[in-house]
Amino acid sequence: MPEHDELISVLNEAVALEYTAAIQYNQHSMLLTGRDRRLFEDMFKEHSRESLDHAKIWGDRIVYLGGVPKAEIGRIQQSTNLTEMLEMDWEVEKKAVEIYSRARKVCKHEATGYMLENHILDEDKDVEELQKLLGKVRIAENAASAEKKVAGARR
Ligand SMILES: [Fe+2]
Ligand SMILES: [Fe+2]
Repeated sequence: MPEHDELISVLNEAVALEYTAAIQYNQHSMLLTGRDRRLFEDMFKEHSRESLDHAKIWGDRIVYLGGVPKAEIGRIQQSTNLTEMLEMDWEVEKKAVEIYSRARKVCKHEATGYMLENHILDEDKDVEELQKLLGKVRIAENAASAEKKVAGARR
């Protein structure tokens, strides 16, 4: 089925990234020490399992589209520092959004296109969660300056 070759190749990038994420999150769950362990172990374990599920979902889809899922794993990044771990995982989740979005663009199979759209939303939720955990959302500052503007306008 050559018409899906490009899609299959991008989906194989996704499967490799999901395997990478599954192992990276698992490693991070093991490397947690101190109070961080209580707070983050379950989250990392859950993300690890979820990534493995994603590899299965998209590997199954590759076979359905006439391809062979590759069993490739990218570079695993690990640290003993929680913030660094979250940064590394945030990078992986952003990469996932990028790959699935690229797959959506080359997808000529309608149902797979809907699946991809749903999946991009899931991965973007992970990006959002990690971004907030890392304190990379500056909502407080914006809200504070908006309040000041409102207060200034009232005067
Ligand atoms: Fe995923
Ligand atoms: Fe994810």
